[in-house]
Formats: sequence, C-alpha cells, structure tokens
Amino acid sequence: MNKLRKAVIPVAGLGTRFLPATKAQPKEMLPLVDKPVIQYVVEEAVRAGVESLVLVTGRGKAAIENHFDVAFELEDTLRRRGNLSDLELVQGIAQLAQFAYVRQGEPLGLGHAVLCARHAVGDEPFALLLGDDVFDEADSALEALITAHHATGCSVVGVQEVPLEHVSRYGIVNAPPASDGPWKVTTIVEKPDPSAAPSRWAVVGRYVLEPRVFDHLAALEPGVGGEYQLTDALAALAREGRLVAAPIPAKRWDTGNKLDYLKANVEYALKRAELRGDFAAYLKDLAKDL
Ligand code: G1P
Repeated sequence: MNKLRKAVIPVAGLGTRFLPATKAQPKEMLPLVDKPVIQYVVEEAVRAGVESLVLVTGRGKAAIENHFDVAFELEDTLRRRGNLSDLELVQGIAQLAQFAYVRQGEPLGLGHAVLCARHAVGDEPFALLLGDDVFDEADSALEALITAHHATGCSVVGVQEVPLEHVSRYGIVNAPPASDGPWKVTTIVEKPDPSAAPSRWAVVGRYVLEPRVFDHLAALEPGVGGEYQLTDALAALAREGRLVAAPIPAKRWDTGNKLDYLKANVEYALKRAELRGDFAAYLKDLAKDL
C-alpha cells in the first residue's frame, strides 16, 4: 500500500473562544510552553511520514505562513551572534515538510474548509488534522489511523471515548463491536444531544480520507448557519460501507478549550528538563493553599 504523503490542516477559524488573545493573532500560534500549538500538530503529521502539508487559511493568518518559512533577518542575526542552537531550532521549522496554503474566503464550516484543499490534494488519500486537538508527543496518534487505513482500505476517523456530558461537542459514531482495532462505522452524527447519542465514541480531530470524500463534500447542502459539515460527507462514506473508526491510544488535550489549554501547558512544562524541578516545586507549594 502506498505511503500517505499529504495532510490537510484547516487553520481559518476565528478563535473567538480565546478572545482577546486572538483578536490580532491566529489562535493556532498560541504556545504550549514556547512552541505554537500548530507546530505540535505539524510535527505529529511529519512523524507519521507526511511530506506535504496543505494549510487551509484565511485573512489574519499570515503569522502561520511566516512561522513555517525562512526567517532571514532572525537567522542572520543568530548566525552573527554565534547562537547556533537557536539558529538550528529556527531553521528546522521551515525544513519540517513542504507547505502549501489555500484560502477559505468565507467561514462556511469544516466541510467547506476541507473542500478548499481539493485541488492541492489531488486524487490520493490524505490525512486531516484539526489544530485544536493536540495529542501527547510521546504517542503517535495519526499512525493508528494510517495502520487502520492500510488494513481496511477505507477512510478512517480517529475516536476516543468521552464522558456523556461531552458528546454534544463532537461527531459521535456507533459503538465498537467487542474486539480491539478498527470497526465499521454505520452511524455518525454531529454534536448529538446526550440522550440521542449512538455511543460515547467521539471523533477527535484526526482523519485519513479517500479523495472520494471531496465528491460528497461538493454535493452537500449547507446545514445550520449556512455551514457545510464534514460529518455529513463522512455519513455518506459510512452509507457506502467505506468508513471505519480507529481508537487513538494517546493522551489528548482540546487546546481550543481554556481549561484543557492550561492543563496542556502545565503538563508540557513538566516534560521539560530545564523547567521540571522548579516548576514542580512551585506547583506543590501553590497547591498547599488551594
Ligand atoms: C469538529 C467536527 C467534529 C469533531 C471535532 C473534533 O467540531 O465537526 O465532528 O468531533 O471537530 O475536535 P468543532 O470542534 O470544529 O466544533
């Protein structure tokens, strides 16, 4: 089976959940410790073997393009100062992969954002990674989906079980049969009421999709708020028997949610050798008074 070469990352969202921080900067550039969230997501794709990234962008997102480009003045200054470790750090970002950008002119939903990438992707399977969902670097979230895609030949949604009170935040699929590993999706519904949810298995921002999904996206009728839902196109793949769900065995933070964003920052800081000791001592001291 051929290697999965391409990935799409939609980054056109307005980030209204993080105002005022996102008034004049993209939400994807908010850092976990000192690295922007979007870089963690790009690195996950690269670790899984992706070589070519298509970012679906919009107005006000130039900082993302600059981040993954050569920073000539900065690199020149670091070189003259002999700061070779920072120079290597900065240069490495532009060398992570090949980057292409397509614009989503209007906020017409996730399905529309993915459709905007059609010509850049062409006629081959691709990964789709949503920038708010960050998985622990120690695990390889996307690889679980690529394995499932190669095993079944179908499109794949990455899923995790969430508390019942959270099902209305996600696309929800039918529950798995008893065995481990990928299972056929027969039902997928977007943000159901907990009383109507087919299970607690939530689609968590990672997909491997066949190019056929573009035909379904192009045929969609707009849903609530004039938005085109990716889930409606995935439901069409499920009806054709072409969609499987793969459980992702990795720790995840929804960095679009303030509490999860803070938790991710704390945990990533504790992973850093240069911060861990002092930061852990500070947290223990702080916790005494909570
Ligand atoms: C989107 C999808 C939803 C998915 C979620 C994962 O929702 O529409 O199916 O479960 O991402 O994060 P959003 O978070 O953009 O509202």
